[in-house]
Amino acid sequence: MIVVVANSKGGVGKSTIAVHLAGWLAEQGYSVTLADCDTQHSSSEWIEEAFPGVKAVRLASPDEILNELPGLNEACDYVVADGPGSNSETSRALLLRADLAVVPCKASMLEVRALSQATEVLRQAQDIRGGQPDARIVLSMVGKNYRLTKDMKEAAAELDLPVAKVPVTLRQIYADAPGQGSLVWNLGARGKEAGAELRALFRELLPNLKRTVRGKQANRPKRKARAAA
Ligand SMILES: Nc1ncnc2c1ncn2[C@@H]1O[C@H](COP(=O)(O)OP(=O)(O)OP(=O)(O)O)[C@@H](O)[C@H]1O
Ligand SMILES: [Mg+2]
Repeated sequence: MIVVVANSKGGVGKSTIAVHLAGWLAEQGYSVTLADCDTQHSSSEWIEEAFPGVKAVRLASPDEILNELPGLNEACDYVVADGPGSNSETSRALLLRADLAVVPCKASMLEVRALSQATEVLRQAQDIRGGQPDARIVLSMVGKNYRLTKDMKEAAAELDLPVAKVPVTLRQIYADAPGQGSLVWNLGARGKEAGAELRALFRELLPNLKRTVRGKQANRPKRKARAAA
């Protein structure tokens, strides 16, 4: 499965979400490739340090993306692609190959015109591909007590873009994690809440994950049941 994290706007949390999603899937026991499609190479450098079990590849051009993503996808369970913040040809190539598009948006972008601009390339891809790729807006860098307003819901509905229920909140730990070469849930107590919200988000985005190693443990008889037996 190819999951593309894309938004033609820069600095909305794409690389942060892509690196954590790749690391989380690998922790579940899947083979994962992170396709870094941004010339700054920040996500591939980060994942190489934070989770060397994820294979990182750099795809430099739209042609490389179109030609190489299917082969990469065949060679592993999940490809997570981190898109660039400005090059719409690169985003277009990614969205033509994606099974799922994750579109991080700041709350200020959930307004019809801004959202429509940010997702134009996505809509073109869906138009060409008969509705594919599936897409979810993920609210990024929002305050802890934030609520979706009616206007925001209408903006997303007007463009037929579902918004994930779990947002990524604004927290210093996210900004610290790349410098520490780590994922937030590996940064001790400070990263606990951020880790929990990301895991909840990823489960929401990928509800059909096969049973994981940890999931299998959950199938063991519970203590109470054993005591009763
Ligand atoms: N939820 C968050 N809370 C606080 N800071 C965040 C959060 N998510 C990302 N950041 C920080 O905001 C900046 C931009 O995030 P990130 O690099 O993930 O965005 P991007 O969309 O990949 O940017 P670009 O378009 O430049 O590639 C980074 O410094 C990052 O550490
Ligand atoms: Mg980035």
